[in-house]
Amino acid sequence: MKNFVIYNPVKLHFGKGVVAQMGPVAASLGKKALLVYGKGSVKDNGSYDQTTETLKKAGITTIEYPGIRPNPVVEDVDQASRLGRSEQVDMVIALGGGSVLDSAKYIAITIAAGHSCWEFVAGDKKPRKALPLIGILTLAATGSEMNAFAVVQNNREKRKLGYGHPLMFPRHSFLDPSFTCSVPKNHTAYGITDLVAHSLEAWFGEGESTLTDRFIASIIQEAREFGPALMQDLQNYTLRAKIMYAATSALNGLTVQGKKSQDWGVHAIGHCMSVLWDIPHGASLSVAYPAWLTLQQQRIPGRIRKLGQAAFNVATVDGTIRAMKDFFEQLGSPVNLAQAGIKTDQAALDALLEVLHINKASGLHHKLSGEDHRFLVRQMA
Ligand code: NZQ
Ligand code: ZN
Repeated sequence: MKNFVIYNPVKLHFGKGVVAQMGPVAASLGKKALLVYGKGSVKDNGSYDQTTETLKKAGITTIEYPGIRPNPVVEDVDQASRLGRSEQVDMVIALGGGSVLDSAKYIAITIAAGHSCWEFVAGDKKPRKALPLIGILTLAATGSEMNAFAVVQNNREKRKLGYGHPLMFPRHSFLDPSFTCSVPKNHTAYGITDLVAHSLEAWFGEGESTLTDRFIASIIQEAREFGPALMQDLQNYTLRAKIMYAATSALNGLTVQGKKSQDWGVHAIGHCMSVLWDIPHGASLSVAYPAWLTLQQQRIPGRIRKLGQAAFNVATVDGTIRAMKDFFEQLGSPVNLAQAGIKTDQAALDALLEVLHINKASGLHHKLSGEDHRFLVRQMA
């Protein structure tokens, strides 16, 4: 087991009605907020009304930046940062899914910096300060609410990359599972896929920590037990709450303690699909994971078999790969490019290979070569 430090400063408020407490929390951080949200789901599901009501009661002035798109892009983050800077806001409040929260994390460090957020991602600049950030989550998936990472897409460079810094932790995150009851079937499935994928990136990371492995397996078991049930009963608060808590737990540090790192190879592959075809994040992962496991089956059979035993109730490598694929299919998440709606002609496959190359798509632990990219693309077609 590696030496480790546990540091997670996010104050997480979980449960029905918690957003009513957000206004006083915001008032302790300042008087003026930049409220960032997406394309409009928050206005349909009541979360916008509850958020603005508590802010108004607490005397907070809000400036709005709507329109963050799924797979968020540099241009929106930079534009929102300019707005926040010119309005001299005291804090950033994110209302939405991972795309909104990730954008807000960049906005919080970019307002203070005065250059494009991409300079952080590209490694040219380091953040020196950040505005306080509050997250109000409406979709269970990414774990962004309780970590210091954010992913952004640069369409000009055909790159989608993650970046993390301790200044990017939200100060507070408010998670009311009832806000997720309006998430449509497809995005509910992608969210469950994503939380399982985060658990798998940890499982296949470098290093050994048996208790951490048990945490990981428990999160996958939770998703396997309650995910399919939720798909049949989308309005069920209890099931929404279980999945929301599982998603937070899958990427808040719990699944990496004592290990050197997660892997992130499959996420790197998935991001390339999002850059190229704007595939939803979770859907890209359910396409990539079966292919990645097939690539790895001769290299790390013991680790795959152990995963099967710990989390999928199967004893063989083949059985584990099949069980995972079946699970994604049972949820309704695609397991190949055709199911994700991509026409898999040679031009499309070549384009994916090119983007995998541009992004140097690889894992931290299990490195991927050009030959591996070609194998993966063939498998996913
Ligand atoms: O734009 P709106 O109208 O809000 O609609 C969104 C969007 O179309 C909709 N939605 C969200 N909450 C809803 C809802 N619809 C109905 N009811 C609600 N309550 O869902 C769609 C997808 O939203 P998005 O925020 O894109 O989804 P998700 O939470 O899966 O976030 C994906 C982004 O997070 C990144 C991904 O790469 C991707 O860009 N990730 C961030 C991570 C992190 N910060 O730690 C880790 C992840 O691995 C991931 O890479
Ligand atoms: Zn993910």
